[in-house]
Amino acid sequence: MKYMNACFLWLSIWTVATTQAHAQTIQLRSPDHHLKLNAVIAANGGLTYELHRKGIAVVKPSVLGFVLSRPEVRLDQFELLRVDSSLVDNTWKPLWGEVSTIRNFYTEVKLSLRQKTSPGIRLNVVFRLFNDGMGLRYEFPEQPGFVHFTVKDELTAFSLAGDHKAFWIPGDFDSNEYSYQTSRLSEIDATKAAAQEKDIAVTAVIGPHSVQTPLMMKSGNGLYINVHEAALINYPALNLTLDPASLTLQATLVPDVTGNKAWLQTPFSTPWRTVIVSDMATEILASKLILNLNAPPPADDYSWIKPQKFLGVWWEMHVGKATWQMAGGKHGATTDNTKRYIDFASRHGFDGVLVEGWNAGWEDWFGNWKEEVFDFVTPYPDYDLQELTAYARSKGVKLIMHHETSGSVTNYERRLDTAYRFMKYHGMETVKTGYVGKIIPRGEHHDGQWMVNHYNRVAEKTRSYRIMLDAHEPVHPTGLHRTFPNWMANEAARGSEFNNAPTLGITPEHTTILPFTRLMGGPMDFTPGLFHMQLNQFDPARSTRVRTTLAKQLALYVTMYSPLQMAADLPENYEQYPDAFQFIKDVAVDWDDTRILEAEPGDYITIARKAKGTTSWFLGAITDENARELNVKLDFLDDAVTYEATVYQDAPGADWDHHPELYQIRQVKVTRKSQLKVPLAPGGGCAVALRKIK
Ligand code: NOJ
Ligand code: CA
Repeated sequence: MKYMNACFLWLSIWTVATTQAHAQTIQLRSPDHHLKLNAVIAANGGLTYELHRKGIAVVKPSVLGFVLSRPEVRLDQFELLRVDSSLVDNTWKPLWGEVSTIRNFYTEVKLSLRQKTSPGIRLNVVFRLFNDGMGLRYEFPEQPGFVHFTVKDELTAFSLAGDHKAFWIPGDFDSNEYSYQTSRLSEIDATKAAAQEKDIAVTAVIGPHSVQTPLMMKSGNGLYINVHEAALINYPALNLTLDPASLTLQATLVPDVTGNKAWLQTPFSTPWRTVIVSDMATEILASKLILNLNAPPPADDYSWIKPQKFLGVWWEMHVGKATWQMAGGKHGATTDNTKRYIDFASRHGFDGVLVEGWNAGWEDWFGNWKEEVFDFVTPYPDYDLQELTAYARSKGVKLIMHHETSGSVTNYERRLDTAYRFMKYHGMETVKTGYVGKIIPRGEHHDGQWMVNHYNRVAEKTRSYRIMLDAHEPVHPTGLHRTFPNWMANEAARGSEFNNAPTLGITPEHTTILPFTRLMGGPMDFTPGLFHMQLNQFDPARSTRVRTTLAKQLALYVTMYSPLQMAADLPENYEQYPDAFQFIKDVAVDWDDTRILEAEPGDYITIARKAKGTTSWFLGAITDENARELNVKLDFLDDAVTYEATVYQDAPGADWDHHPELYQIRQVKVTRKSQLKVPLAPGGGCAVALRKIK
């Protein structure tokens, strides 16, 4: 045996003898010693782990292992062959992001195990402890007699120490576009929650007790706990199924058409299973654990990747002013209308204009599960791409390509190279993809292994073509934007367009939950910036409204992190509010520093960020349906600098359901000694631009 009872700074190993055999415990401590993880191999070979923070249980003893269908074995009883451990401390600089430097500081232990029963498969479990949480992954090393294998189930469990308050959406193999629910774990009823949802294109609800990750929880003793995964590669997405009696969350992987979960070959490493934990909600939002568990990109020149703000021939289709399809006489993506957007973008300093409905096929694009939908290279006759390419270039604006696949992913795969070459030929450097509809290959789900591989293939291929990528309706992000820095944003949750949905829509608290859930995996193309809240502007039959104040829409540019930010509303609506629009024009999309000033999931978030390479700061504060007072110190500001703060705030009488457009703008000189006090309306917010004056 290569290990013995030992005690290093961050690792202890001990053996407890019983009559027949002995149980072994490997204890890992985080660099600051606040987190303790025990991995225990019981006398019978059963493998469990548990996690404590400052003596409080975060995860109680929980099972690890697999059920394979090829070969047909259960991998849940092991002998320990070897223990390796290390402490790693380094820093790295993301190409773009919320901060300019990230510290990667963790302890690690790797258990090399062998299945006790025949055929004696070898499996490693790697645990990493950061000061703010844990990652664990399995490795199937190369070994004689075990090469190809199929995962039927992953046994990983998270046994929770209490009936925590949870922020959850129903477990689903196809959609993550649900409205968030808040309840005790024991009260989760995903089937009931899903039954209220009428506006999601394709769903495959798992069952009453299943939820998606990132799952955010708050314990009775004040711990904030987030469960998710990192580096989802060649494997299906993780969902969790709760056993309400034991409060244990069981890994539930998305199946393929055969009912299996993953078809694999050694050597293989699973994605990381992550638990981020803190007694401060702000630290959950500041965590870089998931990014640190992803691999850096291959060495290359990435100077072509540019964070950007864009407008789109887009919302006007969603609110019924125009259509994607040409037939019917209301086509949005005409040459003239696109020029209007290009002019507006150019006049106001935007980088890009997204154009949806530019290509033939929208007359019959959804609902028929058909193979041939779009070819991604044929513009409608009233959309003169040659002319628009030249026009956009002359105005210093880039067109953003739209590839709606309608779920026909085999069709898209066949056409990827042609489509990307076509884009590059027309000077386009960013693509928004979409996956509305049932997937082809028929029987595959949006979040299964096949589709995960597809999204990653698209990320890799666009990277090789030097194309920036924004995916809508993909699997939940898991920090892969580190490995694919061109994969700048995803929707992958209920985004702002659901404001337009007849039922449920976007509640005022939704935007206070998303950063704790969906955005833990990466930037979100939420598409903020709606100024016209009553959505019957073009279609009197619509009774829906955007449940926000205008000032909150501005604040979202800071609280909802993305290096690709859309100004979602129509040029004519922005023209009604030029003074408020100024904030969207000014706000940065890439940052040297980020300070999470205050946060409580479901209630409020206040964030300040320092624009990359400047002395300017921007602050965003949002609240749920309740009014609150923002009252924060500005002590993050640069020393010995006086700033002019332009404060965009809810005016007296503003609220989300009666007077969303009531805002006021004031200017005040501040320094790092100043305090900022601003009332936030129900469903409201506040945005502040801080510019150095001396
Ligand atoms: C859903 C996307 O999320 C939305 O942004 C897009 O406009 C439609 N699909 C049409 O592709
Ligand atoms: Ca709330």
